[in-house]
Amino acid sequence: MVAPQTEELRVEIAGLVDKLGPGRSSLIPILQDIKHRHRELDSETMQVVAEMLDIHPVEVYSVASFYAFLHGAPQGAHVIRLCGTLSCDFAGKDAVADALCDELGIGFGETTADGQVTLEWASCIGMCDQGPALLVDDEVRTRVTPDDARAIVAACRADEGRADA
Ligand code: FES
Repeated sequence: MVAPQTEELRVEIAGLVDKLGPGRSSLIPILQDIKHRHRELDSETMQVVAEMLDIHPVEVYSVASFYAFLHGAPQGAHVIRLCGTLSCDFAGKDAVADALCDELGIGFGETTADGQVTLEWASCIGMCDQGPALLVDDEVRTRVTPDDARAIVAACRADEGRADA
């Protein structure tokens, strides 16, 4: 399900290891760089970093968790995660991202002031042929248009985040 994304990820992390060195001291700079570019650190990323630095994944999780700035902030009642990976990018994820940000009045990695919605980027969620794809909590939405995005926000605001948009 995540093979193309995994390959992209491995190439990206290998580039960072080349640049920053293969030692343990590169762990935090590598995580910071990935967090900065992707706005998140998912478990797959942490696994690949651990493998490439030849350290135990638990150590990577532990470092990422310890540094709150790496691991994110408390989440809202609903979490919208828009796939930011290549196929969804080509399918028009930027217009969906703009609609979500406009409608929510926040950026990615942020939570609305009322605590109702958190907006995040996701890596490939396996719906590459049906992009732009996103998750509303744990529910997958595909071929999402900017209008769909606005409807999804309205549903989340009405506490109906799992209803069809
Ligand atoms: S690129 Fe695979 S779901 Fe977006």
